[in-house]
Amino acid sequence: MTKAMKTNIAQLRLRQLSALLLATSLFVSTSCAQAPAVASAPPPATAIAAPAATADLQRVVDSAYAKFKDDKSGKNADYIPYLASVPSDLFAVVIVTADGKVYSAGDIGYSFSIQSCSKVFTMCQVMQESGPETILKKVGVEPTGQAFNSVTALGMFGNKAVNPLVNCGAMASVSLVKAKNAEERWQKILAYQSKFAGEQLKLIDDVYVSEAATNWRNRGMAHILYNNENLFCDPLEATDVYTKQCSIGVNAKQLAVMGATLANGGVNPITKERLMNSSYVPRALAVMMTAGFYDESGAWSFNAGLPAKTGVGGGIVAVVPGRLAIASFSPPVNEAGNSVRAQLAIKYIAAQLGASIFDGR
Ligand code: DON
Repeated sequence: MTKAMKTNIAQLRLRQLSALLLATSLFVSTSCAQAPAVASAPPPATAIAAPAATADLQRVVDSAYAKFKDDKSGKNADYIPYLASVPSDLFAVVIVTADGKVYSAGDIGYSFSIQSCSKVFTMCQVMQESGPETILKKVGVEPTGQAFNSVTALGMFGNKAVNPLVNCGAMASVSLVKAKNAEERWQKILAYQSKFAGEQLKLIDDVYVSEAATNWRNRGMAHILYNNENLFCDPLEATDVYTKQCSIGVNAKQLAVMGATLANGGVNPITKERLMNSSYVPRALAVMMTAGFYDESGAWSFNAGLPAKTGVGGGIVAVVPGRLAIASFSPPVNEAGNSVRAQLAIKYIAAQLGASIFDGR
């Protein structure tokens, strides 16, 4: 056996020992604590395996920010008129680790509309409330290979929602949240998204007004879904609550904490609240991997190798399971509606950290 092999094995044993110690300490602390609201399991042991030292994570965030801050590619989305008015030069990069440490650069305090990044957490809410099978059977989990608002995809897939991360599937997810009326549906969604962020989130009224006045296409698709029994509440209610959900304001740090909750097996690393059964998290991440970038999901997997979700407001959140989340915000988007600079920053960080989930080295 070579010296290098012996060192590798020693490192592996050390990591296994630390994982065991963490699991033991978690068991001791959780067994003394109050019972959690949902069935829980300890966060994955890998949560302790920091990918790099603190200084390294701050350095990689700073260098991603410096490298791309002057990149002016892309253009703000304007089919929702408000989005065209957001300053295009805003740029933020944040890492939040699975144990709650925050590393950031740029405009991290700016509150932008979460848009399609919200779709992930409503999918999680439906899984948590009704089980992952509900998403599989009633919404679907196949990538469409089409744009986020594709009417063609609806036709191609037999008027089904197809997956929770395109607009049709997101409205179907909204319709599956158990609620007696529109207000309850909205309040439940807002509360759940806020718990992922670890802070009370608020609607950005101007975004909502702007989007609600122009969301004819979503209203049309919701009616087709409902007509085919693939939407489970009134179609205008589903569209309106979905539009509100997309108009929730988040800053880049809050978005990163939302992702870090998934990285941490469903437990918010700041508030320590369990929001999702740990066994459901891989299913959510699988959908993000295959459909989070719509018709660019293949290229994103190829280049970054991380489950992620984009929003047309300029936010992207990516998850390194068991380790951390990376969020970035920059309003100019490409043809597919995905932020150009946020993609560059996250891809760069993923490569620097060797974080692709497909990299077994
Ligand atoms: O329904 C819409 O068109 C928007 N509220 C959300 C679209 C979106 O974020 C696409 N993602 N990049």
